[in-house]
Amino acid sequence: MKDHARNSSSNLTRRDLLRTGSAALAASVLSTPLAWAAASDADITGRNSLKAHAHKHGLLTGFAVNVHLLRTDPVYTRILTEQASILVPELALKWVALRPAPDKFDFTDADTFVDFAHKHKIKLRGHTLAWHESIPSWFEATVTKENARHFLEEHIATVVGRYKGKMQSWDVVNEAILPKDKQPGGFRDSPWYKRLGPEYIDIAFRAARQADPKLILTYNDYGVEYDNEEDGERRKVILEFLRSLKTKGVPLDAVGIQSHIKAGSPSTIGKGLREYMAAVREMGLQIYLTELDVNEDDLAYNDVAKRDETIAATYRDFLNVALAEPSVKDLLIWGVGDSHTWLNDGPTHHRKQPNRPQRSLPFDNDYRPKPAFFAIRDAFDHRAKA
Ligand code: XIL
Repeated sequence: MKDHARNSSSNLTRRDLLRTGSAALAASVLSTPLAWAAASDADITGRNSLKAHAHKHGLLTGFAVNVHLLRTDPVYTRILTEQASILVPELALKWVALRPAPDKFDFTDADTFVDFAHKHKIKLRGHTLAWHESIPSWFEATVTKENARHFLEEHIATVVGRYKGKMQSWDVVNEAILPKDKQPGGFRDSPWYKRLGPEYIDIAFRAARQADPKLILTYNDYGVEYDNEEDGERRKVILEFLRSLKTKGVPLDAVGIQSHIKAGSPSTIGKGLREYMAAVREMGLQIYLTELDVNEDDLAYNDVAKRDETIAATYRDFLNVALAEPSVKDLLIWGVGDSHTWLNDGPTHHRKQPNRPQRSLPFDNDYRPKPAFFAIRDAFDHRAKA
């Protein structure tokens, strides 16, 4: 894809400038438009960073991290250290990354992630201990009804135990609710559910509490954001599920709202989300916005500036509702720059704009902050006025 950020009057890109680690110096030297860009970059660090604005309003903020970029891209890692007060690995703590074989653990990527955050004094979230996706190919034939509990408890004890005291919170169970699977209680008919029934959820939370008593144990899910019938049904079923966990004394401290939202959605965000968050708060639970990004595939126009403004407005409108809830403590964005959003992964035949990579994240392909960055930063300050 053409690098929109490459400056026409110079072969230097912003990435080159930042790589020198002296964007401000470069700005004083260069008299090209890039100098303006580099200079404007200086406006987003320090007290003007996302983490500084978040901190002013009692929040932690950061990104899902791609460990390959952590190893290879100094501009990427510079943004993480400048902007984030909390980080979560996009893949490194999932079963598929950790479990190359039934009797093996591979912590290479996870340790790289944890060591990076520890070095830069950035807090950490773990994601995720029990999910129906990103599971290794050996799972289906190896994990049975008889041994599933052992595999689940052993995994959690080993993985949570390894990082004991280093993680703020873990998404212990991810996306366990899917009413259209027609199971009692609205549970997703997932590999864990097929082997252990809904009990797998209780087992996972209890094992995590035992492995690290100080951890904030989180249930994470999506599809609760909009005022429409599907999200309304999901909110109702998830709340019933959460109440049942609390009634059984299952250790649970927080609820993750994935926050994968859509530019140009026909549905509004407001009453349903506010009521859902209030109900979660009344259970004594914290709320994390865990995977925020904006899917812009529905936007029928191609103009980049117009799309960027619409995407920014989508972030703003969602966050003005979500951040007004006092129990919201963390905001994590599901990626840094557009070159690595999961929304551009995989086959494109189902997309409305199959040949148009999405501009979903706060930074563009060359790590220039887009209107979305400033919309998110402004939303932190809007919280104070709520
Ligand atoms: C996605 C990652 O972004 C992809 O890179 C990976 O291939 C699949 O998982 N909800 C979740 C996340 O809880 O773990 C998913 O992340 C996105 C949807």
